[in-house]
Amino acid sequence: MKRIILNETSYFGAGCRSVIADEAKRRGFKKAFFVTDKDLIKFGVADKITEVLNNASVPFELYSDVKANPTIANVQNGVAAYKASGADFIIALGGGSAIDTAKGIGIVVNNPEFADVKSLEGVADTKHKAVPTFALPTTAGTAAEVTINYVIIDEDAKKKMVCVDPNDIPAVAIVDPELMYSMPKGLTAATGMDALTHAIESYITPGAWVMSDMFEYQAIEMIAQNLKAAVDNGNDTVARENMSQAQYIAGMGFSNVGLGIVHSMAHPLGAFYDTPHGVANALLLPYIMEYNAQSDAAPKYRGIAKAMGVEGVDAMSQDEAVKAAVEAVRALSISVGIPQKLNEIGVKKEDLHELAVAAFNDVCTGGNPRTTSVDDIEALYNLAY
Ligand SMILES: NC(=O)c1ccc[n+]([C@@H]2O[C@H](COP(=O)([O-])OP(=O)(O)OC[C@H]3O[C@@H](n4cnc5c(N)ncnc54)[C@H](O)[C@@H]3O)[C@@H](O)[C@H]2O)c1
Ligand SMILES: [Fe+2]
Repeated sequence: MKRIILNETSYFGAGCRSVIADEAKRRGFKKAFFVTDKDLIKFGVADKITEVLNNASVPFELYSDVKANPTIANVQNGVAAYKASGADFIIALGGGSAIDTAKGIGIVVNNPEFADVKSLEGVADTKHKAVPTFALPTTAGTAAEVTINYVIIDEDAKKKMVCVDPNDIPAVAIVDPELMYSMPKGLTAATGMDALTHAIESYITPGAWVMSDMFEYQAIEMIAQNLKAAVDNGNDTVARENMSQAQYIAGMGFSNVGLGIVHSMAHPLGAFYDTPHGVANALLLPYIMEYNAQSDAAPKYRGIAKAMGVEGVDAMSQDEAVKAAVEAVRALSISVGIPQKLNEIGVKKEDLHELAVAAFNDVCTGGNPRTTSVDDIEALYNLAY
């Protein structure tokens, strides 16, 4: 049996954020709890939403206590603020951090027995849908607006908790590339490579099937064709729009079939060093693609190479196609300025074993196409060091 969970309604295209007001009216909502973060206020992105709300006289309460790689406290403070606000729906604006925080808030408000947040890790048995949420991504990106996952740091345990829960999916996704124009080059590159990692990991996960393949192949192709242009010129409206859609398409797939150990290994880097999620994935991806090529997923590397735009793939042997796929991904990563070694981003060699144990226990490990171990993962960290 296969299962697909997607938003109730999704909007795409430059300026589509204007639908917030109509959607709120149509659904009978009275007051918004507006979750975003401080940088999005500073960069004027939050203003683009408050303008829509003010023009339509939709009252709102702003909540911006969200750090990149959000914490349990960000969620719990948000729950208290939501309850005090009198709001009846959530607007989440941001990268994965703000949207994930909003998901956690929406779940805990309607499922108060999970108020500790820690008990939401993994597949949580919540009984009620989250507070209805409109999610507007500002990065391209995590696809948090269409996934059934959210990722929260447990600071005491120094752990990134992946929470998987169909009840958390935002009711409405509003994918407006104009909200992404202000991303600096490094953020565009890192978040775009995160989207590519989603597409590749879920293209080769054992649970992949015709429908997820359809999404992921298309996402890989669109990212290969548009990421560098979006990094080189943040005002390239075509590249920005294509990236906004590519990351969503990747999310339609990976949310439903899962990821692999690139994400398992990226999460502890976020928990230990606050490494930006996209940088961690992008750096690790080529090394782990090589490792995972020794699995039943090997034939699918031909598809990855093709979608990446490599010429002459049909005439290649399987080994050549694997190499071509990995090299194309590495070349894209280098071309957008991603660091290629863990020692360049502040990772400490003496932590590698502890990181490997945490990565092995991550929820995403179950989706990896090659059976792995703590030793293998530690060897991969060493290789990337
Ligand atoms: N829910 C999911 O399915 C899922 C999937 C992958 C990753 N994640 C999680 O998402 C988080 C990462 O999210 P992210 O990579 O989108 O970054 P982010 O949300 O952490 O944002 C990083 C920084 O960029 C700023 N920023 C975002 N958009 C901007 C814009 N348009 N202009 C200027 N600045 C902007 C933010 O304010 C923040 O300071 C991690 O915690 C990761 O684990 C979640
Ligand atoms: Fe990711």
